[in-house]
Amino acid sequence: MAISFRMSVVLSFLVGLTVLGFASSAQFHELFQPGWANDHFVYEGELLKLKLDNYSGAGFASKSKYLFGKVSMQIKLVEGDSAGTVTAYYMSSDGPYHNEFDFEFLGNTTGEPYLVQTNVYVNGVGNREQRMSLWFDPTKDFHSYSILWNQRQVVFLVDDTPIRVHTNMEHKGIPFPKDQAMGVYSSIWNADDWATQGGLVKTDWSHAPFVASYKGFEIDACECPVSVAANEIGKKCSSTGEKRFWWDEPIMSELSLHQSHQLVWVRANHLVYDYCADTARFPVMPVECEHHRH
Ligand SMILES: *[C@@H]1O[C@H](CO)[C@@H](O)[C@H](O)[C@H]1NC(C)=O
Ligand SMILES: *[C@@H]1O[C@H](CO)[C@@H](O)[C@H](O)[C@H]1NC(C)=O
Repeated sequence: MAISFRMSVVLSFLVGLTVLGFASSAQFHELFQPGWANDHFVYEGELLKLKLDNYSGAGFASKSKYLFGKVSMQIKLVEGDSAGTVTAYYMSSDGPYHNEFDFEFLGNTTGEPYLVQTNVYVNGVGNREQRMSLWFDPTKDFHSYSILWNQRQVVFLVDDTPIRVHTNMEHKGIPFPKDQAMGVYSSIWNADDWATQGGLVKTDWSHAPFVASYKGFEIDACECPVSVAANEIGKKCSSTGEKRFWWDEPIMSELSLHQSHQLVWVRANHLVYDYCADTARFPVMPVECEHHRH
């Protein structure tokens, strides 16, 4: 009796270990591969640099797709004149009804602030932009940018400070992205038709190449091998019985009190644009906005 009890404690501890997983940063090539413009990649030890010039931008993609978990990377954005450029870092599923969680870093002229635009697509529909400035210069140093995703919420974090939460409101009839596995992507490209001051400031190619640097790649998420059928993925990646993913713990179902305070601070001091407040664009406020108030 005592032995079998001890055995089961040890067993559930072991199961816990494998399910919990341990986030530690990986080399780029373990998790990712170039998506386009291989010749615009520069590898310097643990650093990866992506270059944009008047010939091409560049982008990379994760080798696997994932359903729930946390993805982080450290990025140092384009120094000096970055006007017209966008560095994107996002998760996305495939197909016309895809889901997507975006960080888009909008460049600026030298000395003017970068903005970070976030967006959430659900079943192929986006139009949920928010824009914020940052409380540091993101071109001077590496900072960590993360997406936490579980059945209850999607949280965008900057140096572990939440800057946006997209909450599951399926009980109000609002679809929530939780059925499609997503890849992780990043790219740099020219978007001078809209990125800086609404497209007024064009990319100055005499300042090319524009370089974004990356390190500290971490994916602590439920991996979905291609061999697993779409209808089996939900089962594989949900916590049932002994199998508990850390992101499904009750404490992860909403922000902690401290995080809520951080989010209030960020919004009060750094929010530049929120689709929920854009009454010209949305005369009828999107339903989720009524509940996204903090
Ligand atoms: C760029 O700088 C200008 C001037 O400070 C600012 O109004 C704008 O919001 C900044 N960012 C973008 C993406 O235009
Ligand atoms: C790209 O920019 C360089 C440097 O400004 C210039 O010499 C070159 O002609 C440009 N090439 C194209 C295809 O625009």
